[in-house]
Amino acid sequence: MADLAAAHGIDPAKYTKGIGQERMAVPAPDEDIVTMAANAVAPLLSDVVRDAVSTVIFATESGIDQSKSAGLFVHGVLGLNPNCRVVEFKQACYGATAGIQFACDLVRQHPTEKVLIIASDIARYERGSEGECTQGAGAVAMVISANPRLIEIHPQSGLFSVDVMDFWRPNHRSAALVEGKLSIDVYLRSLTEAWADFRRKGGLPLDAVDKLCFHQPFTKMAKKAFAALAEAAGPEAAHLGEASYADSQVYGRLIGNTYSASLYVGLCSLLDNCAEDLGGRHIGLFSYGSGSVGEFFTATVRSSYRRYLRAEAHKAMIEARQRLDDETYAAWFYDVPKQVEDRALPQEAAGRFRLAAVEDQRRVYEEAIPEAQLVPLQAVA
Ligand code: HMG
Repeated sequence: MADLAAAHGIDPAKYTKGIGQERMAVPAPDEDIVTMAANAVAPLLSDVVRDAVSTVIFATESGIDQSKSAGLFVHGVLGLNPNCRVVEFKQACYGATAGIQFACDLVRQHPTEKVLIIASDIARYERGSEGECTQGAGAVAMVISANPRLIEIHPQSGLFSVDVMDFWRPNHRSAALVEGKLSIDVYLRSLTEAWADFRRKGGLPLDAVDKLCFHQPFTKMAKKAFAALAEAAGPEAAHLGEASYADSQVYGRLIGNTYSASLYVGLCSLLDNCAEDLGGRHIGLFSYGSGSVGEFFTATVRSSYRRYLRAEAHKAMIEARQRLDDETYAAWFYDVPKQVEDRALPQEAAGRFRLAAVEDQRRVYEEAIPEAQLVPLQAVA
């Protein structure tokens, strides 16, 4: 972020302190929402999960096709169970939460089935715009099952939707348009309205909640969210302070906005980085997608959650990224998305899966690691 500030002649403290971001993830030209998603899903695929997945829900607002679900590319790349449904969900940063709620109901109805939720996005604004410092990229994969390993989602949730132009991206654009200050106001209003709806519906009072996780486009936003919620909740939130959400900010500060994945990057950050044992404790989560939909819900952390964390792998992945100079960043992040012609892509991605080429307007993915055994997966299929 300091390099970006220097390139734009801005005081770096505006980004690092004012916005609260230290680094920003930029995808290589041979990475996209599918490769990020496949890399996120692969470690979860035990044979049991593979066979029991009845539904794949891919949440994104950085879609690569107007017709075909990005989930089908992931299904193909990873060889998932053919006897399942695959669908893409879109509502800005909120899509994965809708997916999770639908998945919970599916699993309640069919307890032997599992639902794979994928949230994968690239957050891109105009070069030089106020939003640029909040960009990022990443994916989260989650398995929803009747016997969860990490958290148990409670049935109550509070909702608030309103038709507003705070942030949007018409089909012909690769970068979002945003009314920044309006987006912050709508986010905060959605939070307090969704939380009030949650309480009216009998949701847990905040004095029973130990940790909070907010949709986090940049870490300062979580601070603003906490202040608004604490004010709305009054004495119910008296025991909660910065420590209730600080651990959920560790990864986001280094990655940036990941749109539909942001809230769940925050949840992962909380579970991975919290020194206290969170087993049996309640978490409040707020999901927000511009346009706009807000949802407040709660969950209980399972007592054996620590056995299933992948904290070391997550940290190693974040640290393995390479610093980009301004010229490379501009080329990769702004020029590459404009390319529509067929092309072969040189290997830059460090993940297991990458986009190898676009041939006859078809995207060709391959398994790039181990590098010595590059196998085009389409050929294998
Ligand atoms: P801006 O207008 O350039 O920033 O854009 P600012 O002037 O408001 O400054 C930001 C903060 O930095 C302020 O602190 C300044 O005081 C401080 P605050 O008052 O907010 O606490 N500051 C400094 N601090 C230290 N040293 C300095 C210094 N200078 C200033 N030298 C804005 C900020 C967030 C509007 C812009 O980045 C933007 O448009 N971002 C994109 C939109 C966004 O993230 N909105 C958030 C809510 S909407 C949402 O979360 C949905 C979303 O994820 C999309 C989706 O749903 O798909 C975005």
